[in-house]
Amino acid sequence: MNKKTGVKISGTGSYFPKKVLTNADLEKMVDTSDEWITTRTGIQARCIAQQNETTSDLAYHASVEAIKAAGISAEQIDLILVATITPDMFFPSTACILQTKLGLKDAPAFDLLAACSGFIYGLSAAKGYIESGVYKNVLLVGAETLSKITDWTDRNTCVLFGDGAGAMVLSASEENDDILSFYLGADGSYADLLYLPGGGSAHPATVDTVNEKLHTMKMFGKEVFKVAVPKMALAAQKSLELAGKTPEDIKLFIPHQANMRIIQAVAKKLNISMERVFVNIHKTGNISSATTITALDEAIKMGKLGKGDLVELVAFGGGFTWGSALIRI
Ligand code: ACO
Repeated sequence: MNKKTGVKISGTGSYFPKKVLTNADLEKMVDTSDEWITTRTGIQARCIAQQNETTSDLAYHASVEAIKAAGISAEQIDLILVATITPDMFFPSTACILQTKLGLKDAPAFDLLAACSGFIYGLSAAKGYIESGVYKNVLLVGAETLSKITDWTDRNTCVLFGDGAGAMVLSASEENDDILSFYLGADGSYADLLYLPGGGSAHPATVDTVNEKLHTMKMFGKEVFKVAVPKMALAAQKSLELAGKTPEDIKLFIPHQANMRIIQAVAKKLNISMERVFVNIHKTGNISSATTITALDEAIKMGKLGKGDLVELVAFGGGFTWGSALIRI
């Protein structure tokens, strides 16, 4: 009998725009304070893309690093997946634009949209393609330029988001099985609590949609918060159960970086001490689909993870969507 193809996490990378916007900078733009932002969210600064810097540009830099870390050549990538809610444009996909920037031809490429859970949804897709023997090396990217869909006059949202990209190369392996389990969920009845109404078929771009600010994110933060905590805890619990593991088995818990208070509440529900929770929200803000992968990459670079360590990724976002993955580094 043929042995089932396993999945190896062969490399990770990340990239942040150079420009840093601090809470002090925001104090000059809207009626807010460093004290409010820090105590309510844990965010102190976020990186902001230049006007001519696109999501695919950030994705490119993160991908080059991940491919190098994987020790393969870009030509060996045979599928490109980009999770994003801020594509360069509606179409072609950011994944196709990234393919060209990487100097590749022919490798299939597409975007997937599950908001902040996008990278974890992408992990499940990469796992399926590799395990079924269809592709050998999948480049999975979470990349966002949320600054471009932010209403910089709305203090309820503009203090929360940032830009950045993370990438992972996943490869077919006889020895490894690094994606132990995943759990995904969604509930579209919450769509209008966190959304970007304009530009699609519901509200195609017109002068009116621009004047009504329909091309920037809308969020009912308090309501999002209430659903995010139980769903993230549920997702984390489920992927542990599916792999026959408990929170004690995890070396590092890497939750979506949306709000420090959400992170603390989820960790408490799971009975995981904050020493085992990786947090970088203070310097990144919420970068949607890029949060878990950039945090994972940073934890690896900091030497917080050794070979064989188990890591739990969990996210929640617009849709609503939620998801978790138990992975081995
Ligand atoms: N500065 C100062 N005051 C502010 C600011 C600000 N930046 N923003 C809001 N306020 C005010 C409000 O106007 C309100 O004032 P009022 O009481 O006079 O009306 C007060 O602060 C409290 O506002 P709340 O909304 O109740 O504050 P809350 O404690 O809920 O925190 C926050 C708001 C940070 C948005 C929080 O609810 C949150 O993080 N929600 C979840 C966000 C999230 O997880 N999003 C999911 C992922 S994002 C994605 O998918 C793209």
